[in-house]
Amino acid sequence: MSKTFRLGILGSGQGSNFVALAEAVAAGTLPAEISLVLSDVENAGLLTHARERHLPAQFIAPGYFRTKLDETAEHAFVAALQAAQVDLVVLAGFMRVLKGDLLRAFAGRIVNIHPSLLPSFPGLHSWKQALDHGVKVAGCTVHFVDAGVDCGPIIGQQAVPVLDTDTPESLHQRIHAAEHVLYPQCVAALARGDIFLAGRRVIWK
Ligand code: GAR
Repeated sequence: MSKTFRLGILGSGQGSNFVALAEAVAAGTLPAEISLVLSDVENAGLLTHARERHLPAQFIAPGYFRTKLDETAEHAFVAALQAAQVDLVVLAGFMRVLKGDLLRAFAGRIVNIHPSLLPSFPGLHSWKQALDHGVKVAGCTVHFVDAGVDCGPIIGQQAVPVLDTDTPESLHQRIHAAEHVLYPQCVAALARGDIFLAGRRVIWK
């Protein structure tokens, strides 16, 4: 029997992408198990959703910095993910940049979802950046994480229309709904081994 593909999910927020992934696992469309859920925010909704599903879920204090983990925290994240024998680290609304140990320990095995069609609008509040810029099509991107910000090889993208009546909230909601479909599909392809890298290009078998 082949070994179960083990996911470690990291997030800082309400955890709607976590829920979409957990539901796909439960439905059998994502052939993996969620081995560990970690957050840098003690009261993150993501941790509550994980505990409701009786999944191992842990808060790890991020340390002194605002936008990244300090060294001690990053060691703690790596140790927890390694102890859980995680195959893939899935960032689901994790709002800190990964710089050091974690990137090295899981090189090529970390993915992220971002609420824009990258390389447009990296960084924060991308749906608002898109609306302010006046684009007619927005969307979301799943990509491998490298040392840059929102710039690793792109695994999948889903476009959504921008309506004349949109507010930042309504556009964000439409992007979020697209994320909940795209992320489980991309993680499932990784779990099945259906994806390989050719330079910056991600090829789906
Ligand atoms: C998602 O929209 C995700 O794309 C975004 O945070 C939200 C988390 O929502 N991530 C980033 O902006 C990372 N740069 P969720 O907690 O409901 O899954």
